[in-house]
Amino acid sequence: MAKESKATEMNITRERLAELLNEDLSREYQAIIAYVVYSQVLKGAEYMDIADQLEIHAKQELDHALMISRQIDYLGAMPTVTPKPVKTSDKAKDMLRFDLDNENETIRNYRDRIRQCEVLGEFAMAEQIRKILMQEQDHQIDLATALGIEVPNVNK
Ligand SMILES: [Fe+2]
Ligand SMILES: [Fe+2]
Repeated sequence: MAKESKATEMNITRERLAELLNEDLSREYQAIIAYVVYSQVLKGAEYMDIADQLEIHAKQELDHALMISRQIDYLGAMPTVTPKPVKTSDKAKDMLRFDLDNENETIRNYRDRIRQCEVLGEFAMAEQIRKILMQEQDHQIDLATALGIEVPNVNK
């Protein structure tokens, strides 16, 4: 279950933005690990297509991690080396559900981050994060489709 999102912090400093981007980076590492493992262990004919998609997600998450690290370095901070914890299950549905929950959380955070970048006048950074956000939304759609559910509205 995704946790409730906090209200967007809008009186933000560059130092705080770097801290929040490090949280994003930890989520990107988590996503890389989850997609690397889940793409290989998902079994069953009905999950063949999504397993292939998860392999593509894994590579895109690595690109995101690189991009976020670059922004953290640009802000004068040190990129983290620690992923958020990755859940495991031997059930395909659970794995897809964990991925979807994480993508929802990631999308919520990047929407906040774009607003925060703009408050600080970091428009190019906001643009980079928008590109990442577009791919995260595609991931969310792929997972919701594989689970046979509606794409969750994370803007509640
Ligand atoms: Fe990502
Ligand atoms: Fe993603």
